[in-house]
Parts: sequence; C-alpha cells; structure tokens
Amino acid sequence: MNITVCFDRLDPAPWVQGLQAALPQARVAAWAPGASPADHAIVWAPPQAFIDEQVGLKTLFNIGAGVDALLQLRLPPALKVVRLDDAGMSVQMAEYVCHAVIRHFREFDGYEADVMTGRWSYRKPRSRVDFPVGVMGLGVLGERVARALQVFEFPVNGYSRSLKQIDGVRSFAGPKQLGDFLQASRILVNLMPLTSETENMLNQDTLSQLQAGGYLINVARGRHLVEDDLIAVLDSGHLAGATLDVFRTEPLPAGHPFWQHPKITVTPHTSARTLRQESIAQIVGKILALQRGEPIRGEVDLQRGY
Ligand SMILES: NC(=O)c1ccc[n+]([C@@H]2O[C@H](COP(=O)([O-])OP(=O)(O)OC[C@H]3O[C@@H](n4cnc5c(N)ncnc54)[C@H](OP(=O)(O)O)[C@@H]3O)[C@@H](O)[C@H]2O)c1
Repeated sequence: MNITVCFDRLDPAPWVQGLQAALPQARVAAWAPGASPADHAIVWAPPQAFIDEQVGLKTLFNIGAGVDALLQLRLPPALKVVRLDDAGMSVQMAEYVCHAVIRHFREFDGYEADVMTGRWSYRKPRSRVDFPVGVMGLGVLGERVARALQVFEFPVNGYSRSLKQIDGVRSFAGPKQLGDFLQASRILVNLMPLTSETENMLNQDTLSQLQAGGYLINVARGRHLVEDDLIAVLDSGHLAGATLDVFRTEPLPAGHPFWQHPKITVTPHTSARTLRQESIAQIVGKILALQRGEPIRGEVDLQRGY
C-alpha cells in the first residue's frame, strides 16, 4: 500500500514519520511532482496538479473538518473524500465557544477594562434566561458545543438541515424554521460547513432577527459572514458584539475594520486546531477499516458539499 502526503504551507515530515510508524507495512512519502502512484492521500489544500497526476487514488483524507477548499478542485467522482471526524477538535471548539459566551455574558471584557484603569467596580448580575444561545450547525462540533453550553445552564437552540433530537436543545431545521430559530436566540454560534447554501448566510437580514443586544460567534468559515453587514448591525446597536475566529481573507489584512472595532474580538483561526497524533491515529484506523471492507465515518457527500 502506498500513501502520499501533500500539504500546502505545512511540513509533511512529521506526518510521514507518524503514518509510517503506525503503518510499517505501507510505503509513506511526501508528494512531489512525478511521484509514484498512491492508494491513499493525506492532504491539506493540495494543488490541482496533485489530483490530476494521482489518478489511482482511492481515498483523500483531509486533515481538517471543513472540506470547502478541497471541493473547489476538480475531483474524480469515484474518489472517496474523508474529513476529520472530531479527532480532538470538538473539545477545543467547546472551550472556545463557552469562553466567548461566558466572557460576554459575565461582562469580563468590561471588568478587564476597569481593572486596567485601577477601578474596583461591580456590574448587575444578568440572567441566563435572557441569553439563549443558538448553535447553527449541529454536527460533530456543533452538538458538542450545544452540550457544553448546557453545563453552564444557558438555554440552547439548535439549527441544522435535518431536525435533531438532543436532550435539552430546542431544535429547528431548514429554511422555513430559520426565522424562528434566530428570533429565539440572542447569542448566535456559527458551526455550519461552507457550501453554496450557507455562504453569506450571516447577513443584515439574519443578524437583525437575533434578539436585541445579540452577539455573534463565528467559528466556521469567513465566507459565511457578510462583513459590512456585521459592522452595520453592530453600529446600529442591535448587536452588542462579536467574536470572530475566521475571515473572508486570512490572515485578516492590516487595516481591516475588524481589527480596531470596539465591539469585535478577533482570534487568528485557532478555535479548533488539527492535532497531529489524534489525526494520524484516526486516519490510520480508517485506512485499516477500509482494507477490511468496513464502513467508516466522515465520508464527505460531494453533492451536498460537506
Ligand atoms: N475555526 C476552526 O478552527 C474550525 C475547525 C474545524 C472546523 N471548522 C468549521 O466547522 C464546520 C463544522 O464542522 P463539523 O465537523 O461539525 O461538520 P459536520 O459534522 O458536517 O456538521 C455540519 C452541520 O451543519 C448542518 N448544515 C449543513 N448545511 C446546512 C444548511 N444549509 N442549513 C442548516 N444547517 C446546515 C448539518 O446539518 P445536518 O446534520 O442536517 O446534515 C450539520 O448539523 C466545518 O465545516 C468547518 O468549516 C472550523
């Protein structure tokens, strides 16, 4: 069995080493043009030339959960595309989102500003009931986030394509229920995949339907958000703030209004990082399962786009 590793701007060497150690019977190598044909590929943003050259590939393992960039390539229809299925990301996402929700709800940013100026101040306690959180996308990451928020007793709403049953989560599904979902939520967490259906879904119309004093946490993809619309809804006073981890252009360009906006917290696409050891273990497990002819989780539906 031949395995090739093809990464954009990421050193393949430790992955090659880790995969080779876990699969001594296989030949694992980093891809270079003209490399011998492989059965499986481990990829991050590979060039089209890689796909065009490696015509014998059976499986493409993406080392992230989102496959939007990969699906921009011309892929043979029979090629199996497999995304990471948690692999240590959901707990990171739960930490990030709970931190952002609690920081806003408890006004810790306000306390930080007071402390910087030597002020010992108290703010009136707020009620969780007034801060229902809406999680858009109830997949591997969204469901974990919804469950984590419940631990802190926030009311949680969930929105997905198909209706979910998650204990304690009020579920909404499909475009017909989007308005009800937004109007029932004050804090909005975006964890949908980027597809032709979800691109630009966070816009003036949808953000304005959140409850007054709303808050946006975007941890999915930058292209979900119409950036000028967010600024308009923040400046109108309808939204109290936003925590953004992903952007239409990354790195966020110097001089972009998000950097300095007083109601926006920026982080550099770090909410849930790919963990090498966990990811290698998961991919190796799936390669062995495929060899035994068993089904695996995380196969991408190329038509649906996630
Ligand atoms: N910022 C970061 O560091 C980072 C890290 C990892 C992932 N991500 C992003 O997080 C996304 C989610 O990851 P995941 O593993 O949770 O994905 P997933 O398991 O595929 O879940 C996606 C969820 O979104 C829902 N959805 C898809 N299209 C929709 C639509 N048009 N309307 C409403 N809901 C829709 C799906 O509904 P159904 O359940 O009905 O299919 C599903 O619940 C990834 O695609 C990636 O973009 C970001």
